[in-house]
Amino acid sequence: MPKRIFSGAQPTGNLHIGNYLGALRNWVALQHEYESFFCVVNLHAITVPQDPSALAAKTREVARIYLAAGIDPKVSTVFVQSDVSEHAELAWILNCVVRVSELERMTQYKDKAKKQRENVLAGLLTYPALMAADILLYQTDLVPVGHDQKQHLELTRDLASRFNRDFGETFRMPEAFIPKVGAKIQALDDPAKKMSKSDENVHGSITLVDDADTVRRKVKRAVTDSGTEVRFDASRPAITNLLTIYQLLTGKTSVEIEEHFAGKGYAQLKSELAEVTVEFLRPFQARMNAIGDEELRSTLAEGAEKARSIARETMRAVKERMGIVGA
Ligand code: TYM
Repeated sequence: MPKRIFSGAQPTGNLHIGNYLGALRNWVALQHEYESFFCVVNLHAITVPQDPSALAAKTREVARIYLAAGIDPKVSTVFVQSDVSEHAELAWILNCVVRVSELERMTQYKDKAKKQRENVLAGLLTYPALMAADILLYQTDLVPVGHDQKQHLELTRDLASRFNRDFGETFRMPEAFIPKVGAKIQALDDPAKKMSKSDENVHGSITLVDDADTVRRKVKRAVTDSGTEVRFDASRPAITNLLTIYQLLTGKTSVEIEEHFAGKGYAQLKSELAEVTVEFLRPFQARMNAIGDEELRSTLAEGAEKARSIARETMRAVKERMGIVGA
């Protein structure tokens, strides 16, 4: 069997430069080496309340972002999670494999549940079972994600090996692919927290749909550290975060960057970072807008068709192993 990749992003909030640098960028790079599946995970989005028309619009926008980022639908399978009902079906089965104690231990659940207080939906707790279903349905080898998904990947592996042990070898064991640089882009307004789609402060992130003036304003407002020297330094997390974004967008090495900014201050870094980002987003957004509605629809329909045929095969094996049979 060919080596496979699966990954996805939730159509909530606005996808930001952290999502691109931590995940999408690597999907694009890896798609030629692996058989690849990139999914807009709209069923994950409803684990917190969503406005229906906004969710529908975001789902299509995220698919456009995948394509604009360089996912080639002739090479990779791009689809929407809800178009392949096997995701929900396998998630239910994995809900009967995972323990509540394992789900309650997930840090993302704990963080999000804190915000929702007594209104936490059951789906927010069982979210990792759906994520494991996404991955295991395609007999995935590699899952390119940012650092925040590491724990979910570990749980996915635990569930795969538990299932294989109890019911016979069924799932391939997936591995996380977490890049050395860019796996954790921090918020511009607070380098102690990650750049997040659900952040209420819009100044924390540069979104992939921000216009040039917005990018310049946000970069200008970004917090900095004490000191004046522009170099990668763990004790100066705000500047190091800006430098990391600069490094990934320019493709320069950290040594080249430090030489370039020697003797220049934080203001110079911010102004160059803003321009580099604007120049990255300009063609990106042009590509997004150039994708016609019909083209998008047919790409997603074809993607769902292809995904379904593989998902169906896995589900057949899962049900057979578990003794789930009907008429
Ligand atoms: P999501 O939608 O929150 O984020 C999409 C991807 O972006 C990465 N990411 C970041 N990387 C670097 N710096 C950041 N500040 C940053 N914020 C987010 C995420 O790690 C992710 O790779 N649960 C997943 C979606 C999902 C999934 C899957 C992923 C559902 N099923 C199966 C892989 C495989 C999520 O909420 O990602």
